[in-house]
Amino acid sequence: MTEPGAPRARSRSDLRRQRRPRSHRCWDHLLLAPLWPKHDANLGTLLRTCDAVGACLVVPREAWVRRAVEKGNTLRRRSCVHRVPDPLRWLEAQRRAGSRLLAVELADEAIRLGDLPAARQRTVVLLGHESDGVPPEALALADDVVEIPMIGTGLSLNVAVAGSLVAYKLAGML
Ligand SMILES: C[S@@+](CC[C@H](N)C(=O)[O-])C[C@H]1O[C@@H](n2cnc3c(N)ncnc32)[C@H](O)[C@@H]1O
Repeated sequence: MTEPGAPRARSRSDLRRQRRPRSHRCWDHLLLAPLWPKHDANLGTLLRTCDAVGACLVVPREAWVRRAVEKGNTLRRRSCVHRVPDPLRWLEAQRRAGSRLLAVELADEAIRLGDLPAARQRTVVLLGHESDGVPPEALALADDVVEIPMIGTGLSLNVAVAGSLVAYKLAGML
């Protein structure tokens, strides 16, 4: 028997009532951009984070990436996914149009995650390749870089974990 006043996990129907009844077409405020992906599982994880925080996913227009995103969409609902043929040119265009480019990377001069304010303007969040990180040409375009502090032995976090933490902070939900 449950103790009176003990925490109770909400049921699926409670959760369903609190969520949106249907997908949002395009949020166009926060865009998570794993533009140099290597592992398909990370794309599915990032897609779920996008749905949770109200962000769009931006991926390169490649056949395997399309399949990976479709397979990883365990929500079985349409999510906002932008597919770009040339990531660097797309980033340059976003910058020219006035969006803030925020790279998530272990870098000198980076902002620490705890000091990152919620996004006040349209923000593109650059996430690096699982082995090679964010390419230097893309890092050079970034307005800011954010780093998630670590005290363990690993050199870096999984890219989907790193992207999800930053997305929650930018969405003002942490
Ligand atoms: C596995 S890491 C890449 C590590 C790669 N060996 C390197 O040296 O750049 C993949 C991506 O996850 C993100 N990432 C992982 N850990 C991070 C951290 N602690 N702070 C900021 N970004 C991180 C970055 O976008 C990074 O490019």
